[in-house]
Amino acid sequence: MKIDIALKKEIDNSYEVHIGTLPNLKIDAKVAIVTNPKISGLHLHYLLSRLSAKEIYIITVEDGESYKTLASLEKIVNNLFEHKLNRSSVLIALGGGVVGDMTGFAASMYQRGIDFIQIPTTLLAQVDASVGGKTGVNNAYGKNLLGAFHQPRAVYIDPHFLSTLPKREYSAGIAEVIKMAVCFDKDFFEWLEKADLNNPEHIKTAIAKSVKTKAHVVSQDEKEKGIRAALNYGHTFGHVIENETKYTRYLHGESVAIGMMMANELASRLGMMKTDELMRIKKLLLKYDLPVAYDIVDIEAFYQAFFLDKKSLDSKITFIVPSHIGGVELRSDIQKDIVMDVLGTYSGQIRG
Ligand SMILES: NC(=O)c1ccc[n+]([C@@H]2O[C@H](COP(=O)([O-])OP(=O)(O)OC[C@H]3O[C@@H](n4cnc5c(N)ncnc54)[C@H](O)[C@@H]3O)[C@@H](O)[C@H]2O)c1
Ligand SMILES: [Zn+2]
Repeated sequence: MKIDIALKKEIDNSYEVHIGTLPNLKIDAKVAIVTNPKISGLHLHYLLSRLSAKEIYIITVEDGESYKTLASLEKIVNNLFEHKLNRSSVLIALGGGVVGDMTGFAASMYQRGIDFIQIPTTLLAQVDASVGGKTGVNNAYGKNLLGAFHQPRAVYIDPHFLSTLPKREYSAGIAEVIKMAVCFDKDFFEWLEKADLNNPEHIKTAIAKSVKTKAHVVSQDEKEKGIRAALNYGHTFGHVIENETKYTRYLHGESVAIGMMMANELASRLGMMKTDELMRIKKLLLKYDLPVAYDIVDIEAFYQAFFLDKKSLDSKITFIVPSHIGGVELRSDIQKDIVMDVLGTYSGQIRG
């Protein structure tokens, strides 16, 4: 399956997303595959059996969100210099969102930008992170605060990789699928309510639907000047949770699940969304064992942490608030007391 991503620009950045068994890739250039030891042990041979190139180098970075840093990025680019990759060389990201975001960032800056290919191996990266060209690393001030928009030359999504993914990681990916449906597509949401995403056919359909949705949003608003920000539904709250828990307690998708519940609570307080719709979203998150509860210890500190998020560096917070299943609004006008009320309902909650 192929999904075209069309971008209207003077320079055409359009690319294809292939969904299905990884085809044979023939690249007439030097290639560096960036991955981590875990993924390399599981899936590097599979990629190498389908890849031919002038020269192939393997660069491994440490596993985990805590290594999504400038230090890891420097390690990647140093390797590229050591192996004398040039402007026509190609990077391949073999891994989840962490490897994908860092490889893309390295590609965006190496000799002012070279091509890269995404081969996402987690569900989260297959449905979300690998498409759209957002790249970056975390720093002491928060998540993804350093980065670049750099579109991949192609994305190959092979559901075969998911067979080795731990259940928790799989569910974390489903959180982003649910996000996509709540934001943009009621029919998709209703299909998800009936589907079983542990069924290989169903997950393939869900991946394709999510990628199509994201592709549509990105082709309208590549640089996130408007509608693309809707994809941050659940993330404004989720990023604070990730930061507060030092990226160790929850997976990204799990924080997003809790964040969606918080955004829904906000929607409810603003009279924007009906209770039965909120309950349906909660039910769908719980169907895949995603967390929906969280204990905020200090609601003022939680509120202040919003201002570290890059979308609010101008001291305005934009909340992505669902108006119904299949539609969201971007709101920068929400009074602090309403947000504090929402946060208050999470104070003293049993940790989920
Ligand atoms: N660029 C974007 O648009 C975008 C969108 C969403 C998320 N993200 C980023 O993605 C990151 C999260 O991505 P993630 O959830 O893929 O995390 P991850 O990359 O850390 O992968 C999760 C874990 O699964 C392991 N793994 C990967 N593939 C595997 C496989 N096939 N079998 C077994 N284990 C495997 C990894 O080594 C890691 O331990 C975050 O940093 C987030 O900011 C980026
Ligand atoms: Zn996300």
